Amino acid sequence: MALMDILIYPDDRLKQISAPVESFDDGLRAFVADLEETMRVGPGGVGIAAPQVGHFIRVAIVDVSAKKKIRHHGRLVLINPEIEQWEGMVMGREGCMSVPDYTGNVIRAERIQLRAQDEFGQWQAFDMEGYEARAVQHELDHLDGLLFLDRLVSKRHDLFSRKVYKK
Ligand code: NI
Repeated sequence: MALMDILIYPDDRLKQISAPVESFDDGLRAFVADLEETMRVGPGGVGIAAPQVGHFIRVAIVDVSAKKKIRHHGRLVLINPEIEQWEGMVMGREGCMSVPDYTGNVIRAERIQLRAQDEFGQWQAFDMEGYEARAVQHELDHLDGLLFLDRLVSKRHDLFSRKVYKK
């Protein structure tokens, strides 16, 4: 396994739209393993998307299980993910490995229905809410070239600088 370099804002490549995955082979699974390792050593590593390491394919990993007292589905490898239903709206604070100096308040759907393939190509469906649903919406945005910075209602009121990225 190998750690990969994270693209950092304002790198223009972060605006690229990623392409669907078509072959579910050992190369894909090796990439997923490297992507997951990169997520886990990173600060605040609850999610990562392939374009953040310069691979423009529709792959994201989310694992919010370290957070206490929330509902979650454990480690999720999400390939070609699609959100099929959105419900509710809630404001919450987000950070991103590609935006290490800031956090921001972003409005997201409170609950989502999601379908995605796993690293073997199997389709799976999920009902999610709260923090996990937020993490998934954040990661899926990366696949469409969007950062949380693009969703701030007000750069003046909803963007916060941080000296240290706390784990
Ligand atoms: Ni991010």
